[in-house]
Amino acid sequence: MVEPAPGWMMALQLVREAGCGVPGLSLVVVTASELLAEHPGAGVVDNCGFADGVPRALRKSLSLPGMAAVKPRNYAVKPGQGQSGMGWRSGAALWSAARIGNNDPMTINLKTPDDLEKMRVAGRLAAEVLQVVAPHVKPGVTTEELDRICFEHIVNVQQAIPANVGYGGGHGRIPFPYTVCTSVNNVICHGMPSPGKLLKDGDILNIDVTVIKDGWHGDTSRMYFVGTPSVMAKRLVEVTREAMFRGIRAVKPGATLGDVGHAIQEYAESERFSVVREYCGHGIGKVYHDEPQVLHYGRPGDGVLLREGMTFTIEPMINEGSRHTRLLPDNWTVVTKDRKLSAQWEHTVAVTADGVEILTRLPGDDNDP
Ligand code: MF3
Ligand code: CO
Ligand code: CO
Repeated sequence: MVEPAPGWMMALQLVREAGCGVPGLSLVVVTASELLAEHPGAGVVDNCGFADGVPRALRKSLSLPGMAAVKPRNYAVKPGQGQSGMGWRSGAALWSAARIGNNDPMTINLKTPDDLEKMRVAGRLAAEVLQVVAPHVKPGVTTEELDRICFEHIVNVQQAIPANVGYGGGHGRIPFPYTVCTSVNNVICHGMPSPGKLLKDGDILNIDVTVIKDGWHGDTSRMYFVGTPSVMAKRLVEVTREAMFRGIRAVKPGATLGDVGHAIQEYAESERFSVVREYCGHGIGKVYHDEPQVLHYGRPGDGVLLREGMTFTIEPMINEGSRHTRLLPDNWTVVTKDRKLSAQWEHTVAVTADGVEILTRLPGDDNDP
């Protein structure tokens, strides 16, 4: 049962305790500050989309200038709704699936058929969020409004957990205070929703969402056009989408992650675009960002040998101009150094006996092959 508590505590309680009706309480709110207090990011693998090396060095040299820039959120959680049981997020849970060793300390979790069934559920829910928010992507809407729509759908309708909320704090940055990343135009990834960011005609937008259901993660993102895109923007978005699918089609037992990266890089560069290096895809399951790292560039035959039961994301970030990135002072937002456009699409996939299964697809969607 929910005990009286400050508004934000109450909201978190409600999110936790599904099915408990609260008489007389019609609306509660979740604010950034308590989400931050509640989710210090402990127990979660802290390699949030980062390739080895680069960000670690960056993090050391940076303080916390983003703190003041983050506005508290004020979203409604319906009483009696929300995820029960395990708490806000599962964290790096102990579990019993097979682990296989490699030459280095890295180990990769192999999923059982039961695990995969749960990942399909989480994956479909994540894909559904991107579908539900789509009609709201229009000139004049704010990215915070889009975030609120995603949050409320996940918590109130899906009774699932928005994995990004409170994720990845420490190392010189605050935990991420929002449900989705909203990356507009020259923003490569990890754009923060904001009440001051109004979308305008011609913008391109990536919304990136991760849902936890029953302890399992589904992570997907796609591009949206706000009104009518320029010829260049449209081409960048379509090439990036095709790059992701070429990466996905390279996945099968016996292939390597180098094959996947190579398929993406070769295509993107043949279209005279560039591939972002500092951020990558990742293993995923009960852990959000797990081994292996999935680079979106590479050489055929290099890297991890793919085996049935591996699950990971493929999420190429492709730039119109140079591949180089800059991290904004909030320590989250990644932009193109030359301020030109960037696009990204993402699916969570599983290696099957003879190829690949996309776990975050909804047939008929824009991100469905
Ligand atoms: N969903 C992103 C990815 O594809 C990670 C976002 S972490 C956040 O890996 F904290 F920025 F939300
Ligand atoms: Co993602
Ligand atoms: Co991802």
